[in-house]
Amino acid sequence: MLIALLPGDGIGPEVIAETVRVLDRVTDQLRFETAPVGGAAYKAEGHPLPPATLDLAKRAKAILFGAVGDPDCDRLERHLRPEQAILGLRKELGLFANLRPATLFKELADASALRPEVAGAIDMVIIRELNGDVYFGEKGMRKTASGRREGYDVMSYDEDEVARIARVGFETARARRGKLCSVDKANVLETSQLWRDVVIEVSAEFPDIELSHMYVDNAAMQLVRNPGQFDVIVTGNLFGDILSDQASMCAGSIGMLPSASLDASQKGLYEPIHGSAPDIAGQGKANPLATILSAAMMLRYSLGLSAEADRIEAAVATALEKGARTPDLGGKLTTTQMGDAVLAAL
Ligand code: NAI
Ligand code: MG
Repeated sequence: MLIALLPGDGIGPEVIAETVRVLDRVTDQLRFETAPVGGAAYKAEGHPLPPATLDLAKRAKAILFGAVGDPDCDRLERHLRPEQAILGLRKELGLFANLRPATLFKELADASALRPEVAGAIDMVIIRELNGDVYFGEKGMRKTASGRREGYDVMSYDEDEVARIARVGFETARARRGKLCSVDKANVLETSQLWRDVVIEVSAEFPDIELSHMYVDNAAMQLVRNPGQFDVIVTGNLFGDILSDQASMCAGSIGMLPSASLDASQKGLYEPIHGSAPDIAGQGKANPLATILSAAMMLRYSLGLSAEADRIEAAVATALEKGARTPDLGGKLTTTQMGDAVLAAL
C-alpha cells in the first residue's frame, strides 16, 4: 500500500522520521514515497504544493503529513505561503471530516488542564466538518445605511453536507462505545435546525447508536465539567474548531495530539495537530508521539490494520509508563530517544 510522506518544514521531518521507524516495525505492507511540501517545496520548486506532490497525494492510499510553516516565507504573497499547502490538500482531496481524538494517557494526568478527578475519564473523538460553514460562505465588507463599516460571513450547510459528516459520526461511534453527541445551536440558528433534523434522519440507519444533542455553549461547559460523558462528538466547522482546541488541552501537551482528515472513501491525511515549531526545529527536542499516534489512526481508518494500530498505541502508553518524556512533557529525551522508547516497547 502506497503511503505519501510529506514531512514539510521545521520539526516535520524530525517527527516523520521516528514515525516511519515505528511503522516499519509493525508492518511490512507499506511502501513510502516522499515529496516536498510547504516552505521546503517553495524553496526547492517555487510552490508550496507542487504538482508532483499533489499527484503523489492523489495516488497514495493515505498521506502522512508532518507540518508546514517557515519564518523565511512570512513575507511571501498569500498563495505562496507554506500554510496554503495543507489548505490546498484538504480542498483538492475533498477531505471533509476532521477527526481529533482527545485521550489522556493516565501517566500524564498531572499535565492535563482539568481537575484530576475528571481528567482521567477523557476518551473521546471530536469530528469536525471541514469543507462548509461560515469559513466557506459568502463574506465581505460593506457600508451600512448610516455609512458605518460592516463585515459579514454567511453560515450555511446543505443537507447532503450534514448527512455525510453525520454518517462519519455514527460509524465512528459504532467502532467505539456506541454514543454520538451532535453539537449545534438549534435554538437560534437555521443551519443548526437543519443540522439537527438531518442528523435525526440519518440516525434511522444506525439504530444501535445512542444519539444525543447538545447546544454548543453547554458542550463547552460539559467538556470541562464532565468530559467522561462523551464518546464521539460530531459538529460543524466553526463549533468544531473551537471545541477541539478546548478538548486538546486535556491531553497534556500539543506534542501528544494526532488527527485525521478523511474523504468520502477510506482515504485520509494524517497529521499531528501541532505546527512546524520553528523555535525548537533542528534541536532534537520535538515530541514525535503526536505523529506516531497519527500513523496509528492511519493504519486503523485508511488501511484496515487495526491490530497494528492498537499495538502502536499500547507501545506509546508503555513508553510513557516507563517514564519516557521529551522536554514538552518535562523530561530530557531527544526526539530519536522517544522513538527508541516506543520501538523498545514494541
Ligand atoms: P506550533 O504548534 O508549531 O508551536 C507552538 C508551540 O508548541 C511552540 O512553542 C512549539 O515549540 C511547541 N510544540 C509544537 N509541537 C511540538 C512537539 N511535537 N514537541 C514539543 N513541542 C512542540 O505553532 P506555532 O508556533 O503557532 O506555528 C509555527 C508554524 O507552524 C507557523 O508557520 C504556523 O502557521 C504553522 N502551523 C502549521 C500547521 C500544520 O502544518 N497543519 C498547524 C499549526 C501551525
Ligand atoms: Mg483551530
